[in-house]
Amino acid sequence: MSETRRTVLITGVTRGIGRSVAERLAEDGHVVVGCGRSAPVLEALSSRLKAPHRFAAVDVGDAEAVDGWARDVLDAGAVPDLIFNNAALMNELAPMWKVPADEMERMLRVNVLGVANVVRAFVPAMIERGRGVVVNLSSGWGSSTSPEVGPYCATKYAIEGLTGSLAQELPAPLACVALSPGVVDTEMLRQCLPDLAPSCVGPEAWADRYVDDLLALGRADNGRSLRFELG
Ligand SMILES: NC(=O)c1ccc[n+]([C@@H]2O[C@H](COP(=O)([O-])OP(=O)(O)OC[C@H]3O[C@@H](n4cnc5c(N)ncnc54)[C@H](OP(=O)(O)O)[C@@H]3O)[C@@H](O)[C@H]2O)c1
Repeated sequence: MSETRRTVLITGVTRGIGRSVAERLAEDGHVVVGCGRSAPVLEALSSRLKAPHRFAAVDVGDAEAVDGWARDVLDAGAVPDLIFNNAALMNELAPMWKVPADEMERMLRVNVLGVANVVRAFVPAMIERGRGVVVNLSSGWGSSTSPEVGPYCATKYAIEGLTGSLAQELPAPLACVALSPGVVDTEMLRQCLPDLAPSCVGPEAWADRYVDDLLALGRADNGRSLRFELG
């Protein structure tokens, strides 16, 4: 595996899709650099998946914290081959006129600024090294809308826009895509679609099916809005 071993940076590695992708990559011999906010989960991950994997408690919405994380990771020589910009929040379901100002700020801070912070902190090292792929998690709600998820839709439409511009800026052979994972039974889905979630595919099955496809992404995909949907 060593000559094909990749270093994959994953935000939101403590549960859901990010967690399952991390577990599957580690099983396959790749190196995972992960973050989330739940310190006990990160400690448990660190004690099970030891170096060269590395896990840190980092709030992606905190630009300084992301910069500090990037310094640690890049100083250790772990320039990502793939960034899986996955960390995100779902809003409390409500019509837009009832969304509190601080909830709207929190959504934008994590789902949009979080992605921008990771791009700013890590992509220059990937450009310098001359390779790498950025995958920004979008959603069906990045190209369509439903009632009561306005804040989430706003952030995922933003991800589609940010990704398109980044793709036009990255020098070849680097690439960037927006990726909608379909509907996956995670805490997030149970928050917004509780009746549907239990009948949906779990994140482990999603990761088993799509991890190799993620690793195969390259310049030919640059700027695409992809949908990796099971079932
Ligand atoms: N599940 C679906 O059906 C579905 C559909 C469309 C798109 N998506 C997208 O897929 C991605 C993963 O979703 P999921 O369903 O796996 O969600 P999830 O189960 O709720 O997991 C979200 C992850 O993000 C982390 N996170 C949240 N805020 C963070 C912050 N400020 N800093 C760092 N990490 C943070 C969480 O960890 P901590 O709490 O430890 O921080 C957790 O590990 C998201 O971008 C989501 O929008 C999911």
